[in-house]
Amino acid sequence: MNRIIWGVFFLITIVLGCKHEPDAIIVGSNNNNNGGGNNGNTKPCDSNIVYFERDILPILNSNCAMSGCHDPGTAEEGVILNNYQNIIRTGKVVPYNTSSSDLYEVITETRLDKLMPPPPKSKLSPTQIALIAKWINQGAQNLYCDNGTCDTTNITYSGKVVNIIKNNCSGCHNATLASGGINVDNYQGLSVIAANGKLVGSIEGLQGFIAMPQGRKLDSCSIKQIKIWVNKGYPNN
Ligand code: HEC
Repeated sequence: MNRIIWGVFFLITIVLGCKHEPDAIIVGSNNNNNGGGNNGNTKPCDSNIVYFERDILPILNSNCAMSGCHDPGTAEEGVILNNYQNIIRTGKVVPYNTSSSDLYEVITETRLDKLMPPPPKSKLSPTQIALIAKWINQGAQNLYCDNGTCDTTNITYSGKVVNIIKNNCSGCHNATLASGGINVDNYQGLSVIAANGKLVGSIEGLQGFIAMPQGRKLDSCSIKQIKIWVNKGYPNN
């Protein structure tokens, strides 16, 4: 009798154990998709606050953290701009103080031999620079937010797609630096990889494709929006 009870107990433990594991993996990868570090607590986004994973990391990842520059492999001048800890530490970011932050100094530098990204790579846009300044002035924190909603209606090239691509891909795939021979900095170039399946294949990390953006995954909402646009025939609207 005792053996049966223990047997049942054992089985239940195994069943629960097995059931639990996939859950844990799913939670982990969701966090990764969103940039991680939030332990699943969702805070609604405040339009006055700059969120590191959502707003800052894509800019630095696609304009600075590429091979030959500030990815972990190259680490030019010891600067690695691929994640929060490395950006704060090696970019010498001083919270609430743009003028003491090396990262801010080099992107606003007026001496061309000190400016980053170095010419002929294009300078960060005034909007991107202002966002980085605002982030530093708000304490250069690693804040996370999630509205729990993903707009899947009226996805247009000019309304949604171009921003996702500009913030996450253009830095490594433009006219001067066309990594893998790919330039997505305009509609024409993007439509090529939308048509041949490489756009969706790469952002989903499908087998047979090189996962993009390098070293990171887009948030699930951006992936969804791009797929909707591609499925509609990637219109230039
Ligand atoms: C940090 C730099 C970097 C960023 C950011 C980046 N890429 Fe790439 N990408 C590369 C490099 C380098 C290659 C060439 C890789 C190779 O050939 O091994 C590449 C290759 C590709 C390819 C060809 C893959 C294949 O399977 O043939 C596609 C498509 C692509 N990128 C799309 C994107 C898209 C879309 C984004 C934004 C969501 C993006 N990339 C962001 C560096 C980057």
